[in-house]
Amino acid sequence: MKATTSLALLGAVSGVSAFWRMECRGRVGVARIDPLVNPNEVAQHVHAIHGSSGFSESAKFDDLAGADCTSCAVTEDMSSYWAPVPYFKHANGSYELVEQVGGMLAYYFLFGDASNPNGGIKAFPEDFRMIAGDTLRRNFSIGGLGANIPDPEKSLWSMLGQTSQVDLAQRALGFNCLNYQKAPEGSLHRHYMPEKDYLDANCEDGVRIEIMFPSCWNGKDLDSKNHRSHVAYPDLVMNGDCPSGFDVKIPGLFYETIWATNAFAGREGEFVFSNGDIQGFGYHADFISGWKSDFLQEAVDTCTNPSGRIQDCPIFTIQDEDTQRKCGLKKMPSVLVNEKVVGSVGTSLPGGVQIQYGPEPATNPNPGPQTATVAVPTVGYSEGVKPTDTNYLPGQIFKETTSSAPESASVTSASAEESEAAITAQAVPSITAAPAAPAAVEDGYEIIRTDYITEGHVVKAVIVKEKVEYITVTTTTATLTSTAQPLKARHDRHVHRHQLRHARP
Ligand SMILES: *[C@@H]1O[C@H](CO)[C@@H](O)[C@H](O)[C@H]1NC(C)=O
Ligand SMILES: *[C@@H]1O[C@H](CO)[C@@H](O)[C@H](O)[C@H]1NC(C)=O
Repeated sequence: MKATTSLALLGAVSGVSAFWRMECRGRVGVARIDPLVNPNEVAQHVHAIHGSSGFSESAKFDDLAGADCTSCAVTEDMSSYWAPVPYFKHANGSYELVEQVGGMLAYYFLFGDASNPNGGIKAFPEDFRMIAGDTLRRNFSIGGLGANIPDPEKSLWSMLGQTSQVDLAQRALGFNCLNYQKAPEGSLHRHYMPEKDYLDANCEDGVRIEIMFPSCWNGKDLDSKNHRSHVAYPDLVMNGDCPSGFDVKIPGLFYETIWATNAFAGREGEFVFSNGDIQGFGYHADFISGWKSDFLQEAVDTCTNPSGRIQDCPIFTIQDEDTQRKCGLKKMPSVLVNEKVVGSVGTSLPGGVQIQYGPEPATNPNPGPQTATVAVPTVGYSEGVKPTDTNYLPGQIFKETTSSAPESASVTSASAEESEAAITAQAVPSITAAPAAPAAVEDGYEIIRTDYITEGHVVKAVIVKEKVEYITVTTTTATLTSTAQPLKARHDRHVHRHQLRHARP
């Protein structure tokens, strides 16, 4: 007697089209400037700023697009990209900026809306703006669980009721522990900044901070009051179905920056983000599009080489790394010109931002608007590590050596864990084939068939295995003697069916 067990294993991501990686080797500034949250005034906290030199506390599209340089590789990209920075708080209370390694990568994922696969991707309109994340957030809670519980498989999020925008936004943050001697961690795998002891013990090449922006748009507003409500996440954060009312798919922006937290290994103290957040739950990022939208649309439509390399897009004009690094902010509020934000910055965070631990939301740490006037800046930049290879994995582009990362792990792996890692580590959306069935089956099981099912953008391989096991059969025999009717036998079969679901996108 056999009992049948279904085990759905990981399939491969499919229906996912192209992407490219905007490299921004230069950093145009590190400053308390934020034209979205604090227009025309000094911002609450420090940001690392990449992109157009026309960025300022009052920057609009014309300022960005009309500026003389960008710190990114493609000269047509005059956008601004900015996010908070981590400081190290020494045991004696003094703060020091953590060095940023290699600049920044801004991925442009061109994932369609799974529920409207032919809808296409619409370029950002000029001056389009948005924020990902919430600077005041100081906790992680999804389904009542904290950040120490690994995410359930993506295919279960919807069933578990974990696809609210608040939930998805928390899963859009990643703090990737870098150790180039080991297999890379998956993107968006850990949603909090590891503690100092963990970093010291495990992350000998620092931390890669990742943030995914919403990529579903309401199709009309360039911005909204909170800079968020005109956009929404698809139900798997990076891809999936757009919620109704947000039916226009825009490029999926994903920022990556690497920070040399390892430089403080063995030193007593803790890391703190410039917004007074220790755990990273309040990490966020901002964007203003400085692309000419017709040009960006052409890029979206034609730069579909699965390599993700901007060099493979014939319409892009690419400038070299030194030129990217030479680009700096054109103007800076005078009150900020002498503010110490890099290196050792004293015994408080710039702007007097206080550490607020949560779990309740941070109160606005800004003492209030300060008048900004414009003067000539003296903002330095941090030189990154030169890439020595053509290895274009997320984050790997900045690493110094080519030898270690086992990035070739196959997405057809039998192990769901490994496959997850491979997909996220590669983030190569060129995978369209269904996965091969895993060859190995545990003792006592036989594979009886493999089904491939497509759910939206995801192909899952459902491996149906049979466990060969003996079961109890109780036979009750009723003997009817009063008539000539035939004997009836009833068999009570005790069959245990185990539904093991391990489906992942
Ligand atoms: C605190 O310690 C750091 C690291 O040793 C040092 O660079 C800094 O000058 C010290 N600050 C003060 C105020 O003593
Ligand atoms: C967790 O953070 C959210 C968003 O800031 C907030 O609304 C909620 O009250 C916080 N939870 C607790 C227990 O403080």
